[in-house]
Amino acid sequence: MRENMVACLPLLFFLFIFISSPAAAVAPPGFISIACCAKSNTTDPQTTIAYISDDYLLDNVGICKNVAYSTITSYFDKTARVFGNDNHTRWCYNLPVTKEQEYLVRTTFLGGPFFRSMNDTSFNASFGSTSISQIDSSHNWIVVEGVFTATENHANICLVRGIGNAYISKLELRPINDGTYLHGSKFSILKLISRVDLGNEDFAYRYPIDLADRIWETGTYITGSTSLSSSKITPQGANISIPIEVLQTAVVNAERLQFLHADLDVHHYDYVIILYFLELDASVQTGERIFDVYINGDEMYHNIDILQTGRASNYREISVRVKLNGYLNISLVKASDEIKYGPICNAYEVFQVYQKAAETLERDATAMLNIRDELMLKNPRNEILEKWHEDPCRPCPWERLSCEEMNGTLVITMLDLSSMNLQGPLPTAISDLKEIKELDLQRNNFSGSIPDSFTSLQNLSKLYIGCNPSLNSQLPPGLSGLQNITINSESCASLLSASIASQRNVYIVGTVAGGSIACSIILGVFFTCFYRRARPNKKEFPTIKNAVFSESSIHDPHDSYLNPVVQSFSLQYIKRATCHYSTMIGEGGFGAVYRGTLPQGQEVAVKVRSSTSTQGTREFDNEVTLLSAIRHENLVPLLGYCCEYDHQILVYPFMSNGSLQDRLYGEASKRKVLDWPTRLSIALGAARGKFNVSALFCWTLYHTQGCKVEQHSSR
Ligand SMILES: *[C@@H]1O[C@H](CO)[C@@H](O)[C@H](O)[C@H]1NC(C)=O
Ligand SMILES: *[C@@H]1O[C@H](CO)[C@@H](O)[C@H](O)[C@H]1NC(C)=O
Ligand SMILES: *[C@@H]1O[C@H](CO)[C@@H](O)[C@H](O)[C@H]1NC(C)=O
Ligand SMILES: *[C@@H]1O[C@H](CO)[C@@H](O)[C@H](O)[C@H]1NC(C)=O
Ligand SMILES: *[C@@H]1O[C@H](CO)[C@@H](O)[C@H](O)[C@H]1NC(C)=O
Ligand SMILES: *[C@@H]1O[C@H](CO)[C@@H](O)[C@H](O)[C@H]1NC(C)=O
Ligand SMILES: *[C@@H]1O[C@H](CO)[C@@H](O)[C@H](O)[C@H]1NC(C)=O
Ligand SMILES: *[C@@H]1O[C@H](CO)[C@@H](O)[C@H](O)[C@H]1NC(C)=O
Ligand SMILES: *[C@@H]1O[C@H](CO)[C@@H](O)[C@H](O)[C@H]1NC(C)=O
Ligand SMILES: *[C@@H]1O[C@H](CO)[C@@H](O)[C@H](O)[C@H]1NC(C)=O
Repeated sequence: MRENMVACLPLLFFLFIFISSPAAAVAPPGFISIACCAKSNTTDPQTTIAYISDDYLLDNVGICKNVAYSTITSYFDKTARVFGNDNHTRWCYNLPVTKEQEYLVRTTFLGGPFFRSMNDTSFNASFGSTSISQIDSSHNWIVVEGVFTATENHANICLVRGIGNAYISKLELRPINDGTYLHGSKFSILKLISRVDLGNEDFAYRYPIDLADRIWETGTYITGSTSLSSSKITPQGANISIPIEVLQTAVVNAERLQFLHADLDVHHYDYVIILYFLELDASVQTGERIFDVYINGDEMYHNIDILQTGRASNYREISVRVKLNGYLNISLVKASDEIKYGPICNAYEVFQVYQKAAETLERDATAMLNIRDELMLKNPRNEILEKWHEDPCRPCPWERLSCEEMNGTLVITMLDLSSMNLQGPLPTAISDLKEIKELDLQRNNFSGSIPDSFTSLQNLSKLYIGCNPSLNSQLPPGLSGLQNITINSESCASLLSASIASQRNVYIVGTVAGGSIACSIILGVFFTCFYRRARPNKKEFPTIKNAVFSESSIHDPHDSYLNPVVQSFSLQYIKRATCHYSTMIGEGGFGAVYRGTLPQGQEVAVKVRSSTSTQGTREFDNEVTLLSAIRHENLVPLLGYCCEYDHQILVYPFMSNGSLQDRLYGEASKRKVLDWPTRLSIALGAARGKFNVSALFCWTLYHTQGCKVEQHSSR
């Protein structure tokens, strides 16, 4: 584990927490309670839960800070571990959990004056790869709680550096029995927005009253309602998922109850709202208390009668899943005037639903670390191996890997070790990559023989082993018996010639655009760049935000956009370059545009045709043909395209100065106004392109590629 920690240094730091001994005897089974930077292990006198300090775990990991201001009083709640701004961006507590078990995680962040004085403003809390909250460090006390189902035997609770340093004061992990909230779903994480014990006027219940250590805020602020409580009434004929004590208080009103939350995230997110009802008034009979449930004015449940005949129960819980935008109004309204009693409610919970970002299957992640370590033994300074850190598939697959999603997790399907000048035996851990389809070991100096265990790779369909002079090319019996496997063990000589051929195999698409309809591009540019100002909201021509304005000189003859070769890229290559389409920079009529980086380091803008695009395959072909033909310094050239399966993708160089549109109307225009000489030079520059293209294409070119603008009027 020490080794792993060291190996993870550059980006990610795992804090491995082992709770092995029964020393934590006071802690209920499955509870993990960490008081960050506490001076010693300690027991919370209120809950009797044992908290361990993370102090001894980490040498030089962050610094301990006494947080001057704290509203809470127990002494271990006054510290924060602050992770510095050395080269790490992500810090994870790696906690042992039970696969398939549902858990509550509560993280406490004590910030305040210290961080305010540092001007540190924010960082993110994430569960695995899923960011669930942005922490604003100027707040004194922030608690983020979530519910998730474990998919592995460990769970990472991570802090991701933002504008400010990350810090944490307390971390609590609690198993929730019976999958109460997620019912086994591994694809969502619920973030707690509110959990209220209505009618409770004393203090918030938590462990040991609540065995899952949920904290039930007291809820007496509901205006116009009356509190009701009864310690004698217990739920009958139903299994309850929350403590009886929480249910034994309630609020009632003769007409309606209303619970409002106005501070939800703006934009439409999914929420789960759970309402708990226990009839606490012994005099109420079936049919005497009936009400409807509205969420933001929409009726969700009609005629709820807790004591409904046939149910033989005095308890009921309902849950709804809705999309909300900033505001929640839960209203319980008496069903009609003839009904004797108004609504009752005992407790409710509101959660925001997050789609869980897929992570690499633990088996494959472990296998990759082992492969790396096995290779490192004989190849200690290999540059590619040194870059292999963190999760192999997320957020971006490691160089030389491809991953695919399967059952909600990512599995490794391709490993390319070719031409890495590797020495030593083949790593046996490769045979743990059970879903691998393609394995390329060519052009190295592997020695020994191919491990027998490779025969367990049932999905392996392409295996390249050629040009490893010291490798025993005898295949283990059984390997060639695998269904559909192609084994390529060509000699070095034939590989060399093949590689030269494949370099030539780049596509040179189109040579001349059919100059049928005369329309100088200047028209298009004038219309788009100047005429648009009068009609800024024109909808017919959606534009991309990103591309294509360069202030710098482009006279460099080695400039890559003058390279007249348009390449055909594989979908896999595009995915890797864009890090699985992780950074969207704009959206046009053709589809979304993503930022990416080619393996050689060039930044690119990648346009991906959307299924709703009005432009069809023919237009795609046209665009590829036309743009391959047109090479002009004032136009952004096409670098390549991908046309695999039903994907249609265009790749352009990324212009970091934004589009001409931005320059004219966007943020950039506020910084520096384009003067008229420059505007004129844009138009003239474009005109010098001397293409004869149709007006349509003038428009398309501008609106999809923008125009690249030169600041120099000397041309
Ligand atoms: C705290 O408890 C953990 C786990 O039981 C133990 O390993 C550690 O030594 C304890 N630390 C101190 C300072 O007592
Ligand atoms: C951070 O990275 C830079 C260069 O990448 C290196 O010079 C420096 O030593 C690193 N700092 C730490 C604390 O690792
Ligand atoms: C924080 O910002 C304020 C105003 O912007 C500035 O006066 C102060 O020096 C900054 N403090 C630090 C530590 O950077
Ligand atoms: C941090 O959280 C914010 C808001 O939840 C999100 O927009 C942003 O992408 C997150 N940043 C990272 C690095 O995850
Ligand atoms: C309560 O739970 C038990 C065991 O899980 C089950 O057998 C029983 O049917 C449940 N009762 C009700 C009313 O759902
Ligand atoms: C909340 O919803 C109820 C039911 O639709 C409505 O009557 C009430 O006016 C709403 N309250 C607020 C404050 O919006
Ligand atoms: C995915 O699910 C299928 C069926 O549920 C199972 O057979 C398979 O082993 C799972 N694969 C992984 C990688 O978990
Ligand atoms: C290849 O490996 C063998 C030992 O396995 C070694 O003797 C030989 O020098 C290596 N060749 C190269 C070119 O590194
Ligand atoms: C591996 O093969 C099995 C059976 O042929 C198939 O169900 C599974 O999807 C394959 N795995 C991948 C990652 O394609
Ligand atoms: C083998 O290839 C054939 C034809 O390409 C395909 O139908 C079959 O599903 C493949 N079998 C496996 C196990 O991948």
